[in-house]
Parts: sequence; C-alpha cells; structure tokens
Amino acid sequence: MKDDQTLSFDDFDEAVNPRPETCDFDRVVDAALSRRGFLGGVLAMGSFATLGGSLIPTAARAVSDRFAFQAIPTSTADAVTVPAGYKAEVMVRWGDPMWSDAPEFDHATRGSAASQERAFGDNTDGQDIFQHEGHTLLVVNNEYTNRDILWGNNPDAKPASDDDIAKGMMAHGVSVIEISNDGGAWAMVKDSPFNRRITPQTEMSLTGPAAGHDLMKTQADPTGTTSKGTWNNCGNGMTPWGTYLACEENFNGYFSAEDEAHEVSSELQRYGISSRDWGYGWAKIDDRFDVAKNPNEPNRAGYIVEIDPTDPTSTPRKLTALGRFKHENAEAVVNNDGRIVVYMGDDERGEFMYRFVSAGVYAPGADTNALLEDGTLSVAKFHEDGTGEWLELTPDTTGMSSQAEICIHTRQAGSAVGATTMDRPEWITANPNKAEVYCALTNNKNRGLKPNKGGDETPVGGPNPREANKYGQIVRWWPNGEDHAAAGFTWDLYVLAGNPTVHDDANAGSENLTKDNMFNSPDGIKFDSNGLLWIQTDGKYSNEGDFAGQGNNQMLAGDPVTGEIRRFLVGPNECEVTGLSWSPDRRTMFVGIQHPGEDGNSHWPEGGNAVPRSAIIAVTREDGGLVG
Ligand code: FEO
Ligand code: CA
Ligand code: CA
Repeated sequence: MKDDQTLSFDDFDEAVNPRPETCDFDRVVDAALSRRGFLGGVLAMGSFATLGGSLIPTAARAVSDRFAFQAIPTSTADAVTVPAGYKAEVMVRWGDPMWSDAPEFDHATRGSAASQERAFGDNTDGQDIFQHEGHTLLVVNNEYTNRDILWGNNPDAKPASDDDIAKGMMAHGVSVIEISNDGGAWAMVKDSPFNRRITPQTEMSLTGPAAGHDLMKTQADPTGTTSKGTWNNCGNGMTPWGTYLACEENFNGYFSAEDEAHEVSSELQRYGISSRDWGYGWAKIDDRFDVAKNPNEPNRAGYIVEIDPTDPTSTPRKLTALGRFKHENAEAVVNNDGRIVVYMGDDERGEFMYRFVSAGVYAPGADTNALLEDGTLSVAKFHEDGTGEWLELTPDTTGMSSQAEICIHTRQAGSAVGATTMDRPEWITANPNKAEVYCALTNNKNRGLKPNKGGDETPVGGPNPREANKYGQIVRWWPNGEDHAAAGFTWDLYVLAGNPTVHDDANAGSENLTKDNMFNSPDGIKFDSNGLLWIQTDGKYSNEGDFAGQGNNQMLAGDPVTGEIRRFLVGPNECEVTGLSWSPDRRTMFVGIQHPGEDGNSHWPEGGNAVPRSAIIAVTREDGGLVG
C-alpha cells in the first residue's frame, strides 16, 4: 500500500528517490562497494545513476515501507508458510473433478485418461481471474507432468499402457474453472457451465502471418490453418478485452520418432526437437508427435494461444504474429496511442526477449481479433551504456523470405539481427503506475562459457553480468518517451540474486539482496494493482553449498522505488512457486504451488502418505484486509 495516497506514483517515486542532475558515479560505486564490491559488474554495466536511480538507493530505503506484512524466514518445512496475520488455504488440486459425474482423485492409481480429462490439470502455472456476469472465472495453465508422480504407482515410474500415456496428455493444457467463496473459503464450482478443459486434443485455429504457410501444413491439416491442442503452457497474459493468453514453452519435448535414427532438420534442432522421446511417449499414441511422419507438426506449436474464458464453446486461437519460441509469458499493455504492446521472453539459455506492437489500435467494444494478428515483432538489443533498442524482425532486416517464415523461425530471425542473448528470460511484467517493465532472468550456467543453440555468443556483460550465472537477476527498462512502441529504452538491474552468506563477490548479489531475503532463480513476476512487484522462484532448494540458507522455493515482494525486497511466502518441499492472481476485491491472492515432491520428498498438501499434488492456494489476511 502507498504511504501517501495524495502523491502520484511518479511524484512519490521522485520524492523518495530523487534523480541526480548529473551522474554521481562515486555514489553508485560506493553503494555497490559498501558491502559487496561487485565493482566489475557495476562498471561493466555503466552508470546506474543516469538510469532512473542508482542500483540500490540506500538513502531511500528508510523512507518508505509499502509492505503490509513482516518478512518471514526461509523454511524447509513441507508446508506453505506465510507471515503472521495471513493464512493460506488449498483451493484446487491436480486431479480434483470439475464435474460431479467424474471421480475423486485416486491416490492408488492417480487416475486414468478419462478421469483426468474431466479433472483439474497437473502442474499449475500461469493464471488469471476474469469476472463475467457475476461469475468469477479462474483460468490456469497446466504446464507439464512429473513422471515420478504421475506414474509413481508403476514400478519404474514409466507408462505401463497407452492409457497411462493419454492420462499424462490429458493432464496438460489449460483448466477454466468457476470459483466462489460462498461458504467463506474459496472453492471450485463443480458443474459450472464455464468449466472447461483445454487439452492437447482441443481444436484451435491458426492466425496471423504463418497461418496457411506450407511449413504449417500436415496430413491432418492440408490447409495449415487449424491445429489440435496446446501443451507445456507456462506463464500467461491477459488482454484488455478479457481474453486469456496461454504461452507454449517447452513444446519440443513431446515430439519423437519411432525411428530414433531419423535426423530432424536444423530448423527444428534450433528449437530442441529430436527423434528421441523425452519420456512422455506421445508419439506412441498419436502420429502427430512423430517427427519422421509429420515433420511440420512442431511448426504448429511454440505460440501464444488466445482463449475466451467466457465462452466454453469458443475455438482458441494460436497467434503466430507474436512469434514462435519457448514462450514464458505475454505481458500486454495498452500504449498511450491505443496500440497493444506485448512483451515476451524466450526461456532458454542465451535466447532473446521480444516485443510485439499491434498495427491497429484498441477500442473497447470493437472487434479485437486483428490486433494480435497484424503488427510488428521486434527483439531486444541491450547496450553496455544503459540504453537499448528494439530491432524489427522483417524480411528486410533478417534476410528471411517472408513474415510467415519469421513467425515460424523466430529464433533464427533474432539471431540474424544480432539480438542480445539473455540469461533465460522468464516472466515480464509492466508497472501499472508508470512506463516501466521488468523481466526475470532466471539463471544461465552457460553465460560466458557456451553459445546458444543457434551459435550466438553469450558474452558476460550488460543485463547478464555474471559468468555461469547461478542465481539470476531482474532487469527493468523504461521505454523512451514513456512510449511502449518506441525504438529505444534505458535499463538497469533491479536486483541481482545471490547468496551473501557464502560469497563476497558478485555472487553475493546486489545490495538489496541480504541474508534475510536471499533467493535464487527468479521466475514468475507480477505487479499488483498497487505497484508492488511480486517475485516467485523456481530455483535450487538443496539448502546447501551455493544455496545454503535459502530453503524451499518462495515468493517475495519488491518495492520498485526503494529496491527493498521482503519474503512473503515459502512453499512446500521440492515445489516451484508459480502463477499469481487476485480476487476482484483484492482480498485474496491465488498462488500456484507446482510439482511439490518432484524428487520424492513431499506429501503436500494432504500429508501422511498421500501423493503430492500441485495446487492453487488462496492467501488472505485474517483481518480481511487487502492483499494486493
Ligand atoms: Fe515454465 Fe520458463 O518456466
Ligand atoms: Ca516459469
Ligand atoms: Ca524456471
């Protein structure tokens, strides 16, 4: 919450964090050196003082406290921990039936393909809330499955039948559920007419420049305009017109070939497609996933999918105009001029960060379909001096034959224009109070050591300042002229994660990273309506060595003005905390707990000998106050 509601956010920002007229370089260096001395990194990144504030505005920290909670310590308990005065309750779990004619989750069998198709999917990830005609709808990505959990009832944790494979397939996709809190606790509304499972078999349309291109045509779809299903949906986005954006990330791992000697094309190799089955086994039950038989099928995945949660009969739309890569999330903003700008990361070591700007402008109530079908796709280039630019991806700039080809081979297009190779761009979120955007760069063990899959070098520097980056960082930028469609921007680093109890060099992290709030591998990030930055982690939970004292994965809140970061929540054993949304009255925060017990050491949430289950929790204040 803001300390002083009478000031605009920008005025508040300026009051607590005055921008120097000239670059006070000594102050920046002193601040960085005061405890850590990762001087090389700071110098290499240029002057933070010219970029909207020094890396750590120490003087401002005492001025502001916008947090409505006391920080909590790390934890290694097989439980969700939240601050005093808050409570966390499980709302919906993997395998919970969405209709009353479907069976309850069976811990002995972990369900069947038929039961899973009628139940909440596995591994909750991106999520958002939609309010529609008095109904509260929660749309959730079900990113993937863990073999040891899904098939843990089989002796070798492998599928024992085609139905086991199909059960895994049906656990993927998207779940649309109505939720209510009539009885005082939030719960799924079984049999709601809005409940819907979207799976890898759901009919979709292909839109944008790549629709109908020869590379999109298959035996099952000679027109290249329709596609079946979506899978490995990681982060998400939400449009101003009330649709949900599900982002296909590691779509490659589901393809294989009966003939393992089959050599896939170099274009497919750039995306990690291979003939070897990773373990899902989908090609064994559906030829679409056999790349020897259907070499174009992988070209029809790796997109952002637009879903209308208010119409369960609607056909989801794959948006090729927004490019094909391992999409993390899609942060859509309405620019000052009415155009829609979508920021997107490609989560793989040394891949790129992208921006789409619609050709048309958004008008509430008008047809919105064309907005995400026609526009300009660009890729980010960061400079050492704290500036950056968006490089347009067109046939002229890339040398590629058509926009369709750019939208299919987007990584190759980024390489062609010399985009900056990043430390695994995860979620991107825009500050609701100003033209400012943040991206979590989760980690990159290859930084400075190995090129990306396309052969692009990964030099140490700029927003990726540490070799073999173990801990990750959050970069932020300000579009020139507060125009999200501008060609240029300025940037700095909001936080370098690290471990100051183990390291005294750059791996200790930036100054706003302390022994009390330390974490590794920022992944999900999202601003609340108040302008606090929520940070979720998907990192190492060994609690040893480089990660000593960091406990389980967690969620923290960061003040974008002061740089202060506080730990708010710690998840159960071996989980990832990912996905975040708020009830319309902002009194409940919904948080995703993904893959508890991925290494076999959790029985959350039911305890005892129960199978661990990914779930969404509802976090509220005991006094009923606002949580975002
Ligand atoms: Fe599914 Fe990049 O996290
Ligand atoms: Ca993620
Ligand atoms: Ca991650």
